[in-house]
Amino acid sequence: MINVSIFASGTGSNAAKIIQHFKYHPDIRISLIVSSKATAGVLNIAESHSIPAITLKRDAFLNTDEYVNLLREKDIKFIVLAGFLWKVPDNLIEAFRDHIINIHPALLPKFGGKGMYGMFVHEAVKKAGEPVTGITIHKVDEHYDHGDVIFQAECPVEETDTPESIAKKVQMLEHTWFPVIVEKYISGLEKLNTSKNN
Ligand code: GRF
Repeated sequence: MINVSIFASGTGSNAAKIIQHFKYHPDIRISLIVSSKATAGVLNIAESHSIPAITLKRDAFLNTDEYVNLLREKDIKFIVLAGFLWKVPDNLIEAFRDHIINIHPALLPKFGGKGMYGMFVHEAVKKAGEPVTGITIHKVDEHYDHGDVIFQAECPVEETDTPESIAKKVQMLEHTWFPVIVEKYISGLEKLNTSKNN
């Protein structure tokens, strides 16, 4: 089994879609939910699926190896960030190089970086008069919203769209694509590793 952890800070609608997608998967298991907030909705989702969950202690997360060690002990091979609002510290990125995936609700490199999350992104898209927006699924490196792009999908922005209606369209793209692309990415990398080891 390839164990995967989902990190999230909010409602967790993407986490829920990913959990559903892998529920009966023969090789990939969502085995740990990690939250940056004790009241995050994603923790209820974890509970309803009987998936173990933890809430991070900020100082230990940012300044020690406590969680790198914990993830290793639990044999976690991939981390999926699904609305995780803290910057991932360098020690964790180093330990999971190429094994951390994030989703961003816009077409990076546009509308990314610090402070560009949630409705701020869609408001900025509307204000800029962009004719299209979409989602970006990318590898996580040491810089915000910067790692190699794995996948993008677009949707049109009409003149009548509001930030709220843009958010709905983008969320639909996220729910459609994120679980599928996570599966493709993990399966692809695992195949590469198996052939390297043979
Ligand atoms: C999504 O829009 C995702 O792109 C972002 O945070 C949001 C999380 O939403 N990075 P949810 O908690 O999965 O509903």
